Amino acid sequence: MTSTPISCAGEPISATTADLLIVPWFEDAASAVSGLDAATGGEIGRALASKEFQAKPYESFVTPIVDRQWRSRRVALIGAGPREACTGELIRKLAAAAGLSARQRRTRSAAFVVRGQADAAELAQAVAEGLTLAEFHGGTYKTSLNGDQPPAPPPVWTVIVEGAGEATERAARAVARGRILGECSNLARELANEPGNMLTPREFARRAASVAGEAGVNVEVLDERRIEELGMGLLLGVARGSSEPPRLIVFRHEPPGAPHAPVLGLVGKGITFDTGGISLKPAEKMEQMKDDMAGGAAVACAMRASALLGAPILVIGVVPTTENMPGGRAIKPGDILKSAAGKTVEVINTDAEGRLILGDGLWYARQLGATHLVDVATLTGAVVVALGKFASGLFGAPNEWVERVRAVADRAGDRVWPMPMFDEYKDQLKSEIADLTNTGGRPAGSITAAMFLKEFTGELPWVHIDIAGTAWTEEARPYQPKGASGVAVRTLAELAFAMRDLNG
Ligand code: BES
Ligand code: MN
Ligand code: ZN
Repeated sequence: MTSTPISCAGEPISATTADLLIVPWFEDAASAVSGLDAATGGEIGRALASKEFQAKPYESFVTPIVDRQWRSRRVALIGAGPREACTGELIRKLAAAAGLSARQRRTRSAAFVVRGQADAAELAQAVAEGLTLAEFHGGTYKTSLNGDQPPAPPPVWTVIVEGAGEATERAARAVARGRILGECSNLARELANEPGNMLTPREFARRAASVAGEAGVNVEVLDERRIEELGMGLLLGVARGSSEPPRLIVFRHEPPGAPHAPVLGLVGKGITFDTGGISLKPAEKMEQMKDDMAGGAAVACAMRASALLGAPILVIGVVPTTENMPGGRAIKPGDILKSAAGKTVEVINTDAEGRLILGDGLWYARQLGATHLVDVATLTGAVVVALGKFASGLFGAPNEWVERVRAVADRAGDRVWPMPMFDEYKDQLKSEIADLTNTGGRPAGSITAAMFLKEFTGELPWVHIDIAGTAWTEEARPYQPKGASGVAVRTLAELAFAMRDLNG
C-alpha cells in the first residue's frame, strides 16, 4: 500500500494554498489566529458572538476566505474545547474527524493547522495519524451493482506547523512517522474487518506475512506439523473442531547492531472466527466474532511499523491462529490438554479458547529469546463489563513494566486502564485433575483470564492488553466509523523505541 505523503509546512497559514484550511479552535477568547477573522470578512467573530460556533469538541464552522491576499479558499474551524485539555490524544481525534468530513465534502486539497497543548512534533505526529486513520475505507465487498458510489479519494494534505522555523524538519519527520503509524493501523483494521470465510488461518498467515515481509520483517509460518513437533497441545486442541488447519506466524525485526537485550516479544490472539466451539455462543452478535484476530493483526502490523520506522531493538512477534469451531473432532468440556510449556489444562469451557492458544504463544516467544512480553487479545466479555468501549484492560507484572507500557499507550492514543492481579484470584483456576482449568467462573472474568496467561510467562516482565471492548466500534463516532479500530498497533510499534534504556 502506498499513499500520497502528507507534506509539512512551517509557513504562515495565509501563504498555504488549499481548498480548505482547517483550524482547531479553543473555547477561550484568546483562540484567535492573527488576521484570520478579517480574512473571512468578520464571519468568525459573528459566529462566535452569536454562539453559532462555541468551539465544543468536533463542532465545526465553515466560511469563505474573502481576502485575496490569502491563498486558501475557505476555512473550517473545528471545535477543540478548552485549550489546556487539547492534548495529542484529542488533536488526533479532531484530525480524524476533520479528515472524515473533508472526504465527505469531496475536498481535493486541505491543510490542517497544528495547535494544542503539547510539543509541536508530538502534535504534528498525532495530526498525521488522525488524518491517515480517516482515509480508511471498510466497504471492500460492495459492488457497483447496488448503486453505491465508490468512495471519494481522500484530499491531498498539508500539515502546517506555524512558525516552526528550524524545527520544521523535525515536525516533517514527525508527520512522516504519523503517516506510517496511521497506515499500519489501517492495515490492521482491514484485516480485522475481513469475514471468517475470507480470512481463514492460512489466509491470515499469508496476508500477515506479506504485510510485514514487504517491509523487511523476517516471517516464518509454521504449519500443523511443526506446531505438533513443538508440542503445542493448547493451540492444536482449539484447532481440532475446525477443518481449517492452524498456523503459527512468527515475525522477527532484527536491526543491524541491535543489542542482544532487551528483546521485545509481541504475542497476538489470532482466532479468525470464534463460534465458542462445543460451548457454542448464542447467535446474537456472533458475526462480530470475525474480529477475534484483531490482536494478531495488531502484532503483524506493528511488526511492519517497527521495520518501516527502524525500531532500535530486536522485536519478535508470535501469532497463533485458528478457528474455534464445534466440529465432530472438537475438544469437549472436561477434556485435558497439554501445553508446550508442559502444564496440563482442564478445558471447562471451549469458548475460553483465546487464553489456550496464547499460552502456547507466550511460551514460544520465550523460547525465541524475548526478555519482555506483551500480548494483545480480544480475550473476555468481562473486560467490556468492567471498562466498556473506551479503554482496554491492562494487566501484568512487574509494575514498572506495566507502567512503561501504559505511558506509551496513553501517548499513542490507545487508552488502557490497569486491573489488579492479586494472587488469590489464581485459586479460581484450580482443577481436580490437571494443573489448571481454563475458566474461573463469573467473578473477575477478565482478571482470571489474565491469571491463566501469567502461568505461561515464565516470570518474565509481561503485560496483557484485553481489547475485547476496544477492537470494534459498534456505533460510529465523529472520529471513527463503525468497524475495526486498529487498536494497539501504535502502542506496540512505539514500545520498541521506549525500551532503549532497558537490558534483559
Ligand atoms: N472472543 C471472546 C471474547 C469477546 C467477547 C471478544 C465479546 C469480543 C467481544 C472470547 O474467546 C470468549 O468467548 N470469552 C469468554 C470466556 C468465558 C467462556 C470464560 C467470555 O468472555 O464470555
Ligand atoms: Mn471464545
Ligand atoms: Zn475468542
